[in-house]
Amino acid sequence: MGWTSCIILFLYLSVCRCWPVTDPEPVMYGAVQSPQYPQPYPPNLQEQWDLSVPEGYQIQLTFTHLDIEATAGCYYDSLTVLYDTKVLGKFCGHENSADGHHPGTQPILSPGNRMTLIFQSDGNNPERHQNVGFSAQYQAIDMDECSAPEPEDGSGPLCSQICLNTLGSYICSCHHGYELRPDQRTCVLSCGGGIFDQPEGHLFSPGYPNPPDHAVSCQYIISMELGFTVTLNFTDNFHIESVDTEQGPNCVHHWLQVTIPNREPMKLCGGKSPGLIDTNSNTVTLEYHTDDEGLSRGWSLDYSTNRVKCPIPGSVDKGRVTPLLPEYLYRDYIFVRCDQGYKLMMDGEEVQGFSTMCQNNGQWHLPLPECHIIDCGEPEPLLNGGVTFLSGSQNQHLSVIEYHCNGPFYSLLGDITVGFTCEADRKWRSNSKTVVKPICIPVCGQPTKLISAYQRIIGGSDAPEDTIPWQVLLTGGGRGGGMVIGDRWILTAAHVVTSEGNQSSPESVKVSFGGTNVGTILESPVSPAASIHVHPEYNNPDLRHYNHDIALIKLQDPITFSSSVMPICLPAEDATYHNGEMGLVSGFGVTETEGRQILTNTLKYLQLPVVDQETCSQSITSLEKSTVPDLTNNMFCAGVPEGGKDSCQGDSGGPFALRSGGRFWAAGIVSWGVECGKKGRYGVYTRVTNYLNWINKTMQEN
Ligand SMILES: *[C@@H]1O[C@H](CO)[C@@H](O)[C@H](O)[C@H]1NC(C)=O
Ligand SMILES: *[C@@H]1O[C@H](CO)[C@@H](O)[C@H](O)[C@H]1NC(C)=O
Ligand SMILES: *[C@@H]1O[C@H](CO)[C@@H](O)[C@H](O)[C@H]1NC(C)=O
Repeated sequence: MGWTSCIILFLYLSVCRCWPVTDPEPVMYGAVQSPQYPQPYPPNLQEQWDLSVPEGYQIQLTFTHLDIEATAGCYYDSLTVLYDTKVLGKFCGHENSADGHHPGTQPILSPGNRMTLIFQSDGNNPERHQNVGFSAQYQAIDMDECSAPEPEDGSGPLCSQICLNTLGSYICSCHHGYELRPDQRTCVLSCGGGIFDQPEGHLFSPGYPNPPDHAVSCQYIISMELGFTVTLNFTDNFHIESVDTEQGPNCVHHWLQVTIPNREPMKLCGGKSPGLIDTNSNTVTLEYHTDDEGLSRGWSLDYSTNRVKCPIPGSVDKGRVTPLLPEYLYRDYIFVRCDQGYKLMMDGEEVQGFSTMCQNNGQWHLPLPECHIIDCGEPEPLLNGGVTFLSGSQNQHLSVIEYHCNGPFYSLLGDITVGFTCEADRKWRSNSKTVVKPICIPVCGQPTKLISAYQRIIGGSDAPEDTIPWQVLLTGGGRGGGMVIGDRWILTAAHVVTSEGNQSSPESVKVSFGGTNVGTILESPVSPAASIHVHPEYNNPDLRHYNHDIALIKLQDPITFSSSVMPICLPAEDATYHNGEMGLVSGFGVTETEGRQILTNTLKYLQLPVVDQETCSQSITSLEKSTVPDLTNNMFCAGVPEGGKDSCQGDSGGPFALRSGGRFWAAGIVSWGVECGKKGRYGVYTRVTNYLNWINKTMQEN
């Protein structure tokens, strides 16, 4: 049937060429029927249908009915279904006919998007069969291009690796490790190149472990952030073609070049795996090159990243570096602490704490500090004392010092010597729990020289230097005495610092001490009086009421004690005055020489016994004079019945000192007397023990 095919081809072409479809709605389905269906078809027919659906689809034809004169080989009447020139089926007969060729219920599928139906009948119908022809429906079926057989022209399969059918079309894809070529059909080994920024990964050459089927030129960049280094670990199976030269294998045509910044690139080839390459860099570039000749099976590697290492920091003398690690990596911190007694020093400056971080460049951001021994500085000076170094030097940590007072004029409060140690907190700390701070207190009542022999001369004797160092000379309005009881305090009689009921101003009173010669001590500069405190109950406008004849003078500046000036002790609270006990009276007052009373130029002293209060009282009342003052219990008397020895005017305010336990204490203040030195007369003294509270209070409050 060659001629039939030619006609059909012609017709098909002419349809396509002569009526180009301008805007066809793509036909996706339709129906075809024989002429006059369902009436019997006419004789001598030659009908043709050219069906088409969009590109990428096949046509599926399904008969709903077919009833064509049945002959063997459908020789007379037939319906022929073609795809181009390819006959897909030639049908006649009906469902139950023995002859003919009925399509049955199976649809007919065209291999392409076209289908041609040719229906023919002849003029001869001997049985006058009433054959009705056929009725069929067709529809577009997505063509599975992928399952189409390989074209015979040798161009290879539609897709060289994976074909994916799509509606009306298909796409090609490639297996892992391959990529689609620009022809969208064929696949080639993929370089797998690009940028790798994950902390670890696996790279391998195209096709590994098989040689690539063509030349490759692939680039792999492993790039991490600063502070990390990349390590390459090539597997053992390594093969890159090398050319043997006299210098050994040479990477001439094939190579893997490893480039690390700031270093000579390395060209690798041969059959031996480079193994582990620690790049010490956060980026590394690999370039794999082969040409079409030769054979390299390639390479594969695992890469990993590590934090940059910083050098081991070393140690700090007298300090501790923490934490102690076998290695120090980017972002690790170390801290330095000094041993007890040492301080952190950086660039000559002390710092409170120290830490340094391992930076992304593998350097510590700060160098290690030093630990220097601490020092407590000069120990605080001790007033009227000093400090002795017992151990250590330069006031450094753990040095030990001891305070002492300038003896014999001062002694440590509590009388115990205590060491002080330079502690880690840079303070001198007492080694004793009780003594926190040393204080030098004046030694009282212990002159450096004692009067060896008491001369019993009328009017007293000249006191040797330094034997009565508490003696004070008061000048100003008149002449009076007093005694030093503290480094700022003078005890005297109230009547010495008052006149006509008025208290003297501090400016009007000149206080002198520190010697036995009036002229000398008056010239020695002495602190001015700061304030005068007369006993509040002293009230003696008519000079007949000497009760509470006691006063205190405060000096502006403290006295520094020495052998010529030392305080006398205050009485103990329980001190008593025993009758007949000898006291030491002293003063620059009036002395009687050959019956004449004169003001003395030198310090005189007397030894006088305490007199029974009753005896004294009687000696006074016997005078029966209205001008004689009262004797009170705040007073006591001293003297000898035969007279000749007494304290007189100018001695007022001076000391009557008793001695017990090796110390002189202020038992009395020279107060008053009648006809001094006369037989049967006694000197009257303020009884100091009665005023301890007042003295204490006044000294505390001022
Ligand atoms: C390198 O890789 C091999 C396996 O290929 C492994 O056994 C070895 O431990 C790796 N070396 C390092 C340092 O990761
Ligand atoms: C004593 O003080 C009174 C009043 O303040 C004054 O009038 C009198 O003159 C003063 N006497 C002397 C001696 O200063
Ligand atoms: C002085 O007074 C204080 C309290 O005001 C007291 O602690 C101290 O013992 C007193 N000293 C004498 C000697 O009375």
